[in-house]
Amino acid sequence: MNIDIQVVPSAPNPNLLFDRAVVVIDVLRATSVIIHAMSQGALEIIPVRTVEDAFQMAKAFPPGFVLLGGESESKNIPGFDLGNSPREYVAERVKGKKLILTTTNGTKAFHLVSSGKEILVGSFFNIGAVAQRCLELDRDLLIFPSGDEGNFSLEDSICGGMLIELITRKRGKTISSTDASECAKILYRRFADNLTEAFHLSRHGKELIGRGYEEDLAYCARIDAIPLVPIFRDGVIRVK
Ligand code: MLT
Repeated sequence: MNIDIQVVPSAPNPNLLFDRAVVVIDVLRATSVIIHAMSQGALEIIPVRTVEDAFQMAKAFPPGFVLLGGESESKNIPGFDLGNSPREYVAERVKGKKLILTTTNGTKAFHLVSSGKEILVGSFFNIGAVAQRCLELDRDLLIFPSGDEGNFSLEDSICGGMLIELITRKRGKTISSTDASECAKILYRRFADNLTEAFHLSRHGKELIGRGYEEDLAYCARIDAIPLVPIFRDGVIRVK
């Protein structure tokens, strides 16, 4: 198995996606929101690129059937039902609902990798379950940190590094890796005992603190809190 990680989130070369499993990661906070919402009984989540796309898509459903969620510049979007804090996505709000989600980086990332063979949703919440699923799939893997508006993201790369570490521990020498994968592993080892330290150093972590979401940082650092692996297929995220 070859494991690569695209630390800068531009559209991957289609040859790189062919026949690969892909794990999309946006720890702060899109993939943490998705995993949390599914654990609370959301039926499915449609990640869309823009606020306009979200309103447009909602028109296709009867009133009250879908909820709109997400953020723009980490702020709540007027006219939306939910923001982008995983703590908002509780059963009382989302159980049995279909969600349309739009965020700055995370929801766009799914569309950049949509030609991958199997596209998994990852964050620290489900990292052990994602590693297990990747081992079962037993195919080459591209880890895709959603990044920060086209730039490297510390927290997403650390999460990717942890995933590589977990898979490598089980498969050892049968894994071939790239320099980027080695780099992500080293980064993970540096912060393994204190993920929130890294979140406080990251540009986006600082932005969230400034907007009053500091609690989300510790919340999103909860390793293996939700052992579910949502899958993005045909434009929709579901748990099998
Ligand atoms: C993103 O997609 O960039 C994030 O989810 C943004 C955020 O939560 O503030």
